Amino acid sequence: MVAATAPGKLILFGEHAVVFGEPAVSVAIDLRTEVFARPFDRWKVDGSDLGNRRYVYVKEALARVWEGGPLWLEIRSAIPIGSGLGSSAAVSVAVLSALLKMRGGFDVEKIAREAFEVEHTVQGRASPIDTTTSANGGGILVLTEQGRNFLWAIEKGQRRWFLHSWKAPKLTFVIGYTGINAPTGPLVERVRRFAESDSRGMNAVREIGKISLEGLEALKVDDLVKAGELMTRNHQLLNFLGVGHPALDRLIEAARSSSLGAKLTGAGGGGSMISLTERIEDTISAIQRAGGKAYAVTVDQRGTEVQG
Ligand code: MEV
Repeated sequence: MVAATAPGKLILFGEHAVVFGEPAVSVAIDLRTEVFARPFDRWKVDGSDLGNRRYVYVKEALARVWEGGPLWLEIRSAIPIGSGLGSSAAVSVAVLSALLKMRGGFDVEKIAREAFEVEHTVQGRASPIDTTTSANGGGILVLTEQGRNFLWAIEKGQRRWFLHSWKAPKLTFVIGYTGINAPTGPLVERVRRFAESDSRGMNAVREIGKISLEGLEALKVDDLVKAGELMTRNHQLLNFLGVGHPALDRLIEAARSSSLGAKLTGAGGGGSMISLTERIEDTISAIQRAGGKAYAVTVDQRGTEVQG
């Protein structure tokens, strides 16, 4: 039996813009997905067959790297599905980690590359930020060219992402989950249509890219006030791009008085918001009063791990 685990992620700055190759900043968090795998006489995932739509990422991962016989797989996740916290990336990374470990070829870069291909195929369009964050752990920075602490470059068509690690401080964020499960693919497609047909859309994408770089600098020098302001501005631009949701704005508004800044995180359209706050309990209570599920997460340096 092989066991693999991979973390969820928070995008601090730059979601959606990163799909166009703009800079973005993310961290792995202390919510993980576990996958157990062993050879079996027929295919089984969580006791059911692989045909279930829920297992589309698992099936794509198997198609990419598995040439062996049938497997028994069990998946347990602490990351709510469709919540913007990287549940699909963590499943893809953990499944690929288990498969590559069984094949004798566990390699974090290969896992990050394959998991990106899985997400890209299933969603129709994606950046590698979620999957590299889950594979590598810690802080991830996407740049338009190679810089310090470079990990790898990933390409798709005309687009190229340069992935780097950055030394993320041990920050705690409060998550507010709307309870609305929003698939990423259609939201990414909506932004593509807007940005490719209207220069105001593309300008917003570019501005988000600049905010990501400024936000990273603010976090590096521990200027949380500045980082919070930039998060709030980033959220306004995401709303402008059409990926907000009234439920997200309600939670963000509720968190405002106890937070340094707040924004949606991940694809939007529902899902989750994050608050950068020094008043964790007050922020959790405010989000709960506004109807959200609220909890605190911290940055996790651990990426994918395997045993067995
Ligand atoms: C989703 O977590 C982040 C998006 O930027 C999509 C992607 O980067 O693949 C919306």
